[in-house]
Amino acid sequence: MGVSVCLASGKDGVGRSTITVNLGIALSKRGISTVIVDGDIEGASFGLILGVDPDTPSLHECLAGKTTCEEAIIETYGVNALVGGITIEQLVNVSVAGFSNILDKLTERFDIVLVDSPAGLGTDAVTILSNCQSVVLVLTPDINSVTNTLKTLAVAKKVGTAILGGIINRTGGQYDIPSDKIEDLLKVKIIAEIGEDELVRQSLQEGVPIYAENPDSSFSKKITDIASKLVGGS
Ligand SMILES: Nc1ncnc2c1ncn2[C@@H]1O[C@H](COP(=O)(O)OP(=O)(O)OP(=O)(O)O)[C@@H](O)[C@H]1O
Ligand SMILES: [Mg+2]
Repeated sequence: MGVSVCLASGKDGVGRSTITVNLGIALSKRGISTVIVDGDIEGASFGLILGVDPDTPSLHECLAGKTTCEEAIIETYGVNALVGGITIEQLVNVSVAGFSNILDKLTERFDIVLVDSPAGLGTDAVTILSNCQSVVLVLTPDINSVTNTLKTLAVAKKVGTAILGGIINRTGGQYDIPSDKIEDLLKVKIIAEIGEDELVRQSLQEGVPIYAENPDSSFSKKITDIASKLVGGS
């Protein structure tokens, strides 16, 4: 049986999806059987980050019972991916209730199932957080993000999801809260700090994940470090 890890955040726009996709590619490159799942049901973005055809079967069709996750998984940039649908039509008749079954199937087949959870504490986010075995919290170094992360953390503890650590993304600003202070506030180990890197947005615009397009970028190097920490290697 594989393990399920969700990347969650209290606030939106902190870099969860970008980190999940690129981390999945990095883990796959190490030979670890990995699938990335776009669990951000209302705000799916894997297809855009990976530059896949919008008609690609998605998690939405799986949740709506129109296809199986076996049929919907694609392989791209060396990683297995269950992308989310990006149209309003794909949200019709979609319920997160079926997520737990899909996750069971994926953990039977893959060693690591990385799930991008929606931001905040709505039903979708809490369902995904509760169903995954562990969580990595993604935040930015500002008081708004830290405050909202505390709420996600409280829910993770309540539902018994193991907390693997936090990733502080988009650092390097003049008014950043220092990571040791964030660690103190959250009482969670910070496993990585990722600086602001313009190449991340370039890769989004080009529809090619940065880990593939710019493996030597500062962002990609941090992703390699996180992959090592997650699997306990170097
Ligand atoms: N380290 C970084 N440096 C520069 N830009 C970044 C970095 N990380 C993420 N971004 C950019 O920030 C934006 C938000 O990233 P992303 O979509 O991954 O965040 P998210 O937490 O998944 O957002 P949402 O809550 O909207 O789903 C994107 O334009 C992405 O390219
Ligand atoms: Mg996202």
